[in-house]
Amino acid sequence: MPSSETPACETRRLKASEAAIATAAACLRDGGLVAFPTETVYGLGADATNAAAIARLYAAKGRPAFNPLIAHVAGIAEARLIGRFDATAERLAAAFWPGPLTLVLPKTADCQVADLATAGLDTVAIRVPAHPIAQALLRAVGGPVVAPSANISGHVSPTTAAHVYADLNGRIDLIVDGGPVEVGVESTILGCFDTPVLLRPGGVPSEAIEAVLGTQLARPTPEPAAGDEQPLAPGMLASHYAPRAAVRLEATSVAAGEALLAFGPDALPGAEHAAAVMNLSARGDLTEAATHLFGYLRALDAKADAKSDTKTDTKAARVIAVMPIPHDGLGEAINDRLRRAAAPKD
Ligand code: TXA
Ligand code: MG
Repeated sequence: MPSSETPACETRRLKASEAAIATAAACLRDGGLVAFPTETVYGLGADATNAAAIARLYAAKGRPAFNPLIAHVAGIAEARLIGRFDATAERLAAAFWPGPLTLVLPKTADCQVADLATAGLDTVAIRVPAHPIAQALLRAVGGPVVAPSANISGHVSPTTAAHVYADLNGRIDLIVDGGPVEVGVESTILGCFDTPVLLRPGGVPSEAIEAVLGTQLARPTPEPAAGDEQPLAPGMLASHYAPRAAVRLEATSVAAGEALLAFGPDALPGAEHAAAVMNLSARGDLTEAATHLFGYLRALDAKADAKSDTKTDTKAARVIAVMPIPHDGLGEAINDRLRRAAAPKD
């Protein structure tokens, strides 16, 4: 449903190959919008130095313009051109790049990232993705590429090219299909301020970062509410990863007609009456659960939707019940995304 300010365009789909990467890089340099796989989720790329391309990206996503974007670069040398690294940032980059960690750093004096991408902040969020297709694309472009998750703002993040197509067909120029992603939740975002602050839990568990730094990470409190003007890391908009169905957390039983997002080997009372059941990881593995999280939320949401079209529908079919999930390791990021999926929608 392109809005009036988003001219419809034809969305090409290419299987990842050297030729596809060259086409994608040329498209980005020309100001185009290209979705591509990273190890966390699919990103929607635009030339980070091109304000017009970034404006089009915000429009395609329907994203509030105060929500700044992550600049993706191929390596630490390229990162140093846009962000000022202190000793902490250097250690974290050495330990976790390339990989699912984003560092928020002060901009360099000649940082080429457009103000529109950083929403006027004097900091820039930088990430060096590990995915070979993302790496090849960034090297071919030769400059920073901003890339939010390739979904309509507020929808569940895409972990396959088909998810991207479902959300953004007609709004972007190209999708590079590199198969399903590996991690399944977005990067961890760390603010490298005087005290390092965990702005968003994600693909690198906070315990791993704390082990490298030898200190506990600060966490911003209190959580900003939905609609707050200047969220600290605006992925923190309370309702962000939202399916259309209501999401009920910490479920210890299932009501008839609810869809169930399960975790671990145990069956919940009432599960036999669920509209649908998907298990994030039957063996209770949090890494496997992260990989499945967004895809299963989408699939259960579609089932809840289909149900509500029938006459036999009950209110309960509009609900996804979620079993408790441990908070350690990737569990912190999974629980964070589920909390947002469950937050009241405005
Ligand atoms: O894994 C990921 O990080 C994916 C892939 C595509 O790389 N990208 C992603 O981008 O999740 P996005 O735009 O959906 O989330 C970026 C988050 C937002 O919450 C944004 O507010 C925050 O990063 N952010 C960006 N720049 C910031 C800054 N200067 N200060 C604080 N937060 C910032
Ligand atoms: Mg996102």
